[in-house]
Amino acid sequence: MTKKNYYITTPLYYVNDELHIGHATTTLYADTMARFKELDGFQVKFLTGSDEHGQKIFKAAQKAGLSPKAFADKIVGKFQEVWEALGIREHQFIRTTDAYHEKVVQSLFQRLKEKDLVYKAPYQALYCTDCEQAYSPSQLLDGSLCPIHKTQVIKLSEENYFFRLSAFEKILRSRLDDDTLAQTERAPGIEADPNAILPLSKRNEILGKVREGLENISISRTAFDWGVEMPGDSEHVLWVWFDALVNYISALVQTKVDPQAENLQDIDHLCQALDFQENWPVAHHFIGKDILWHHSVVWWSMLNGAGLTMPHRVYAHGWWTVEGEKMSKTLGNIIRPTAVAERYGQDQLRYFVLREGPVKEDANWQATRFHQRINNDLSKELGNLFSRITKMLWKYCDGAIPALPQETFADATLHTGIQELKTMAQELPEKLRKTMDVFAFPQALEELWKLVRTLNRFIDQTEPFKRAKVPEQRQELLAIMHALFQSLKVLSFALAPFLPNAALRMREELGLNDQQATNLDDACSWLVNFENIRIAEKSTQLFPRIEENK
Ligand code: MSP
Repeated sequence: MTKKNYYITTPLYYVNDELHIGHATTTLYADTMARFKELDGFQVKFLTGSDEHGQKIFKAAQKAGLSPKAFADKIVGKFQEVWEALGIREHQFIRTTDAYHEKVVQSLFQRLKEKDLVYKAPYQALYCTDCEQAYSPSQLLDGSLCPIHKTQVIKLSEENYFFRLSAFEKILRSRLDDDTLAQTERAPGIEADPNAILPLSKRNEILGKVREGLENISISRTAFDWGVEMPGDSEHVLWVWFDALVNYISALVQTKVDPQAENLQDIDHLCQALDFQENWPVAHHFIGKDILWHHSVVWWSMLNGAGLTMPHRVYAHGWWTVEGEKMSKTLGNIIRPTAVAERYGQDQLRYFVLREGPVKEDANWQATRFHQRINNDLSKELGNLFSRITKMLWKYCDGAIPALPQETFADATLHTGIQELKTMAQELPEKLRKTMDVFAFPQALEELWKLVRTLNRFIDQTEPFKRAKVPEQRQELLAIMHALFQSLKVLSFALAPFLPNAALRMREELGLNDQQATNLDDACSWLVNFENIRIAEKSTQLFPRIEENK
């Protein structure tokens, strides 16, 4: 059976600085989704990378006394270290300085030019180099500060090339299924989808802005040359956002790009690449809220102008604050994900971000909350549960898995308790699919934790440790141990996308191997063949408690 495709991307991170928890969060969400979809039988492609052109990087390199490329090479190496520390398993890493990407950018630009969607005109703007974006005077703080970085904007005045963004208003409104748009005004051939941007609150914000009308945007620069050269006018480099957005396509058409070709290659020809055909219709861009405008309005218009379809979904998450404050270098409160992972563990960091992070709304990073989550959810609820059960399996069953006795027990609590565990496991795949399809990571974890808590309750209620002392209760004890093992087995597979290390250790210590569940439904069903399974004699502590109170 051929697998269904799923394509997930993160933004390309600027190489001007080290990555912080904000960047790590976007990437962790995407990584978890990629792992989940893989478990659910999809053929997944997960793309991330680095944004290396533009004035911001040019300046940062100058400051470091390096050429922009040498500077980028240095920082990109550090990105890889961060991904490793967080257990990120991307399938492709793209750099905007990759030669194949530059060629694709030029091909796409060429198509827009052929379609008369590009023109030259004087450009004057109030520009924030940190955002690599222009602002209108009314958007500025105190008349001259960038609303995001609170730094002075610069005045740009040069002859530029513009992209006719204003031509796409009806197309974008049609795509977003704007119900104030009359049927006759809808753009033909555009698939309407109110969920094309999620969460819906963010979709509504974008739709509101598009309804106010769109202005054409400048897409070239002449003041510096660190960028993709504009075809047909080598005085200009393309605007860094125009360049970077194209990466989501470049990565899919790489095999069709001819590195030797002197002339520009046709974008339609490039898009014949199998990777593109399979993955572009299922493209999911995972980004932060600050860059949603670029990823919807600007990117979709570029694509539509070039005759390409728009991505399936864009998901924009919120931002972290730290102990109630904006995260900034000036305040010295930047959370470095590698430091957290080194100190507390990779899964501990992953869990906190997925459970408490800004997936829908902004979220606040609080050390006390972090400690609570680790100590309560991971150490107490899951970790203790695991060691409790594995110890009992050794003590009462010599590390083997007893079969579920056939007889019905007089003890109704026992009977319903076992049934409840089995049903919860069976229902888990659908619950996880439903929550993960809308990127609801906290709710997905909550579904898993319902099973964790039910198991803890089941042990307290059925008291296997007491039954172990009564020989007549042996069958009941075996039934309990069977159900506990099966439930841990389910957790050891279903937790894997979220807590890959702990899940692997659980499987190893339970004597399981990956072949025992190759998809989500198998992962969540009770094993039929368990006779040869032996669990490890010594189980390790999955999640040590954090003792400090800082
Ligand atoms: N280079 C552009 C993206 C180009 S994509 C074609 C860019 N890069 S970035 O390095 O600034 O990283 C942006 C990502 O980090 C965004 O998803 C952004 O929302 C995220 N975060 C940056 N600070 C953040 C927080 N404080 N909290 C959560 N995420 C935040 O933009």
